[in-house]
Amino acid sequence: MNDSSLRKFYGWFTVLGLLVGVLVVVGYYRDEYREWKDYQRKFIQEEIRRASTPQQRALAEQTPVQIRQIVLHDLNRVDRCATCHLTVDDPSYGGYPQPLAYHPLHEQHPFERFGCTVCHRGQGRATTTIDAHGNVPHWDSPMLPLQYIQASCGQCHEASDNPAAPELARGQQVFEESGCRGCHKLGGTGGVLGPELDKVGARRSSEWLKKHFVAPASVTPGSAMPPQKFSATNLEAIILFMLSQTGESAPGYYASMKVIPSRNEGQRLFQQKGCIGCHSVGDKGGKVGPALDDVGLRRTPEWMIQHFRDPQSVTPGTVMPRFGFTETEARGLTDFLLHMRDQKIALSLPSLMVPVERGREVYRKYGCAGCHGAEAKGGVPNPNSKTAEQVPGLIHVADGYTKDELKARIVKGQREIPALDAKRPAPPLYMPGWGSVIKQAELDDLLAYLISLKPKGEDVGF
Ligand code: HEC
Ligand code: HEC
Ligand code: HEC
Ligand code: HEC
Ligand code: HEC
Ligand code: HEC
Repeated sequence: MNDSSLRKFYGWFTVLGLLVGVLVVVGYYRDEYREWKDYQRKFIQEEIRRASTPQQRALAEQTPVQIRQIVLHDLNRVDRCATCHLTVDDPSYGGYPQPLAYHPLHEQHPFERFGCTVCHRGQGRATTTIDAHGNVPHWDSPMLPLQYIQASCGQCHEASDNPAAPELARGQQVFEESGCRGCHKLGGTGGVLGPELDKVGARRSSEWLKKHFVAPASVTPGSAMPPQKFSATNLEAIILFMLSQTGESAPGYYASMKVIPSRNEGQRLFQQKGCIGCHSVGDKGGKVGPALDDVGLRRTPEWMIQHFRDPQSVTPGTVMPRFGFTETEARGLTDFLLHMRDQKIALSLPSLMVPVERGREVYRKYGCAGCHGAEAKGGVPNPNSKTAEQVPGLIHVADGYTKDELKARIVKGQREIPALDAKRPAPPLYMPGWGSVIKQAELDDLLAYLISLKPKGEDVGF
């Protein structure tokens, strides 16, 4: 190539050179004016303003402008939130506008061990507000709206047992009482009409859930899920509880022995699991296992926890069932039993002894209410079913069935529900067969409960 042919490119070289120059300058300014640098400069200015001695002032002036991060190996996270949220651990910043505000309630969860995203979700490594708060495509863990923050406590704490997370406890209660398990499995227990809910909090947002609860078919056309009639508070609580189901649980230290002493939880479990059917306390209860009044004198905490994990492993051949307790549940029970003597326990023992009461528990446990309504009063729509286009309530079953027939009905279920109009789509809800799910003893209690529902003054049919 000779000189003259090169020369025709000179113009282009100049343009290219200028372009690169402009890009460098733009890059410099973009870097210099990154959002987070702005917040850090504001912070430094504030520190300078507050300085009362020349030394303090010099110290403030020397504060480097840099990314601040917390590396959390066990949690497999790097959180850079403190790059903007610079003063989370400085109470003198209480009441400042975000991101320069003090963080309340962090004593129990030191930031250097917990970081931020384990509670707030969001994108730990990001350094712009939008990205960090995670409201971007392809990031599947957007920051939890603050009103639902208690959804994250359940990774490490027992939901029903954290006085600092009342909304989570309420959500769990609403779930158990609304019959969701009639159609959904959670933690292995429940029906099959709807999807499992163990990871639903990782795939659905609060907005989606809200719309779906109010009118499932508006979000999932043709959905068989009946619209849920919740009060405003219960709606928020059930959304929060759904968001808490991410299938994640924190490892090691984070779910350690230190988390919340849970004696009350122990007492609740003791009643709920029917321990009293085999053990006595204060002379009330069963005789299959030893009386438990003084068990704290006979057994160490370690023994009891291991016994709850797997009774066979410490007492081979025992008939005490393996309940599948979580670690916190086992600890709660142990704590409760150890202190049996010193607490004036108001165990509602007699009521739990009554089959009808236990049967009510069974009705609740398997979510029959999801289709047959609270207290079996009916009212759940089943479009195009011959039975008033609703799933019937069960308060009158004692009239139509003998005990054995009723049992067979529940065990076998009923796939085909007669349609009102053969030309319209078949009724979406059917009766699942419960034979392989409900235990024999539970079934007897359930029948006692259903039969007891018959309004007073009417004869029982058998
Ligand atoms: C680039 C700076 C920046 C980073 C990085 C950042 N934030 Fe923020 N954050 C802000 C600003 C600014 C606000 C206040 C305005 C707003 O809410 O968008 C804020 C507000 C918040 C709020 C209050 C929201 C509300 O509804 O009141 C929470 C919670 C929060 N941030 C958590 C986090 C977490 C967790 C991280 C890390 C994953 C993080 N932030 C990373 C700048 C940042
Ligand atoms: C153990 C869980 C937990 C951890 C860890 C945690 N937070 Fe929070 N955060 C909360 C809770 C709970 C609230 C709501 C407090 C309240 O009720 O006002 C909150 C509130 C906030 C707010 C809003 C405060 C307000 O009143 O507007 C911001 C911003 C925030 N957190 C940022 C962070 C950052 C940044 C980190 C990490 C350095 C962090 N959080 C770590 C649980 C946590
Ligand atoms: C990543 C796991 C984790 C998460 C998430 C978490 N915690 Fe904790 N929490 C702990 C651990 C571990 C301790 C015990 C700390 C210690 O004793 O050193 C604790 C202690 C506590 C305590 C003090 C208990 C006591 O007996 O002193 C309270 C209250 C508490 N957490 C409430 C909450 C709330 C509310 C949330 C949700 C906003 C939450 N925690 C989220 C792990 C967690
Ligand atoms: C009569 C059966 C039935 C009952 C009772 C029921 N659901 Fe559903 N649910 C379904 C079916 C079927 C679907 C799948 C179709 C859809 O998305 O609506 C579903 C979907 C869902 C989804 C979306 C799951 C996902 O990953 O897409 C959530 C969340 C949910 N149900 C929660 C609940 C809760 C909480 C309750 C109790 C208040 C409940 N359901 C009661 C049948 C039921
Ligand atoms: C997914 C919805 C669903 C769930 C969950 C469900 N059922 Fe049903 N059940 C039905 C339907 C639909 C029918 C048939 C009603 C009809 O004939 O129209 C039915 C019928 C029955 C009947 C016969 C009622 C009669 O009047 O003939 C009994 C008894 C019954 N169910 C008990 C139960 C019990 C007990 C549970 C909980 C263990 C339960 N069901 C859970 C949907 C359900
Ligand atoms: C089906 C009957 C049965 C049920 C239900 C049952 N247990 Fe037991 N339990 C036994 C028997 C039998 C033993 C004695 C053999 C052994 O150590 O496992 C026992 C032993 C124990 C011991 C050790 C007592 C001692 O002095 O050695 C404790 C503690 C205990 N059970 C607690 C519970 C709790 C809490 C529950 C409820 C969650 C429960 N059990 C439910 C039958 C039962």
